[in-house]
Amino acid sequence: KKNLQIAIDGPAGAGKSTIAKAIARQLGFFYVDTGAMYRAIAYKALRLNIPLEQEEEIAVMARQTEIALEHSAARRVFCDGLDVTEAIRSPEVSRSVSIIAAYPEVRERLVELQRQEAGQGGVVMDGRDIGTYVLPDADLKVFLTASSEERARRRWLELQQAGKELSLAEVHRDMDARDHHDQQRAVFPLVPASDAILLDTTSLRIEEIVDRILSLFNNKL
Ligand code: C5P
Repeated sequence: KKNLQIAIDGPAGAGKSTIAKAIARQLGFFYVDTGAMYRAIAYKALRLNIPLEQEEEIAVMARQTEIALEHSAARRVFCDGLDVTEAIRSPEVSRSVSIIAAYPEVRERLVELQRQEAGQGGVVMDGRDIGTYVLPDADLKVFLTASSEERARRRWLELQQAGKELSLAEVHRDMDARDHHDQQRAVFPLVPASDAILLDTTSLRIEEIVDRILSLFNNKL
């Protein structure tokens, strides 16, 4: 019997990771944050001073990079054995990541890793192309959205809590640029899978969304 899979996609700040983590906890599934993998590659490129437009060099680097996601409560992210959990959330990485995420060879490498993770057991995976490409046979596919203002506000609050002083306008601008880039790229852009359930989270509480997804999942089984 195949491992159960829930795919959660959507733009930045739609609540994917908070919701995916809560669902994974309740079901006893693994949570796989695919955005963290793309962020780790962007972070390494910045650290090594590889210009982001050097597609070939970045593809080679990605192939030689070890990424590990911890499954315990701390959910630390390791890149070549180095703990990059906090570093990959910097505004600089957020501004760079969608550039390297548009490179087909980078995606190929990370998708391979993501499918390996999904082979370990029941999984909740979040990202941009999980329902359309990474796990096309997922048992449930959800596409989360929210108004761009609300998503920017959530991101800004998160950054504030992490002690990062950016203006709301700045966060909004960076987020719109990243979403635009993710939607327009040639390879596996951000679009809902044809069989995904669309959920607008603008005015819903986290618990309401989690409950709704859990009942959708139970109905599918
Ligand atoms: O989910 P998060 O906002 O951390 O993702 C960071 C970036 O990684 C996205 O803006 C996108 O460019 C890229 N990404 C992707 N495909 C995924 C997950 C993330 O292209 N499955």
